[in-house]
Amino acid sequence: MTMNSETNDPRETAAPAAENRPHSSAGSAQASQPTAPQEGRREPAGMASPGPHIRAREFSVYYGAFEAVKKVTFDVPEGLVTAIIGPSGCGKSTLLRAMNRMNDLIPRCTTGGELEFDGRNIYDPRIDVVVLRTRIGMVFQKPNVFPKSIFDNVAYGPRLQGQKKRRELEEIVETSLRQAALWDEVKDRLEDNAMGLSGGQQQRLCIARALAVRPEILLMDEPTSALDPKATTKIEDLIGELRGQYTITIVTHNMQQAGRVSDCTAFLYEGVLVEFGRTRTMFTNPREKQTEDYITGRFG
Ligand SMILES: Nc1ncnc2c1ncn2[C@@H]1O[C@H](COP(=O)(O)OP(=O)(O)OP(=O)(O)O)[C@@H](O)[C@H]1O
Ligand SMILES: [Mg+2]
Repeated sequence: MTMNSETNDPRETAAPAAENRPHSSAGSAQASQPTAPQEGRREPAGMASPGPHIRAREFSVYYGAFEAVKKVTFDVPEGLVTAIIGPSGCGKSTLLRAMNRMNDLIPRCTTGGELEFDGRNIYDPRIDVVVLRTRIGMVFQKPNVFPKSIFDNVAYGPRLQGQKKRRELEEIVETSLRQAALWDEVKDRLEDNAMGLSGGQQQRLCIARALAVRPEILLMDEPTSALDPKATTKIEDLIGELRGQYTITIVTHNMQQAGRVSDCTAFLYEGVLVEFGRTRTMFTNPREKQTEDYITGRFG
């Protein structure tokens, strides 16, 4: 991993890099100092000083001539949960989708600057996008279960990867469903069509399906916005349990949720990264007035 001289090496600090070089209108934000981890939260074992898993430097995303994400610079720390917040249309989904090149599917969508995963340029033309999306899985706002059995939904990815042995598949399906806190609810109906599950169950099934291919990073775009409070709690608990084993990046409109589940937060406004840092610090003592106004509900 290479670090430029302007960047703090997060391995030398008590907390992940919380660097932010804001672009244009972001004003006077300064590179943030590392701060203590969130109160009551445990650092994942062996990850007291995690390095960046995804590293963005002056990274932009364009739709045609429109720059939807504007030269953002930040590190997603390994093994922690990073929330992306900001008003509707500010570029959250665009930035998240860029991380596993889901934007490739959108015509006229291009990028500028650097976006690295494990030290490799995600937009390097030699990158195998299928492998990239296996290593960086994604869960969408609306659960996109396949009209197949519960078992076949979870076994889908491993089968694509060439796993044919029934026993191995059974093991992967059970482990993934347990990790997604869905096993107990579905273990007696694995052959039922997944479309018959409730919305919250379908979302956990999508998480199980994403986990079945053993990703390193999980991207979640408003995974609970269509769910009731009980199902939302289940997903949030699940994020807490996956924390440490996976690097998680979650887009959310729910400030309480960002506060509950995330270690770090990125606040975007009109495509500009206004502030990035430890969630607890940002929520109690934001550097930027814009951040404070958004977090306290004054706009957005
Ligand atoms: N496929 C597309 N083609 C052209 N412009 C797009 C496309 N997708 C998004 N945009 C534009 O890019 C900007 C950022 O959109 P994006 O969906 O990333 O916002 P968001 O922060 O996720 O919003 P929301 O909270 O409403 O989901 C918006 O101005 C949007 O209109
Ligand atoms: Mg969005």
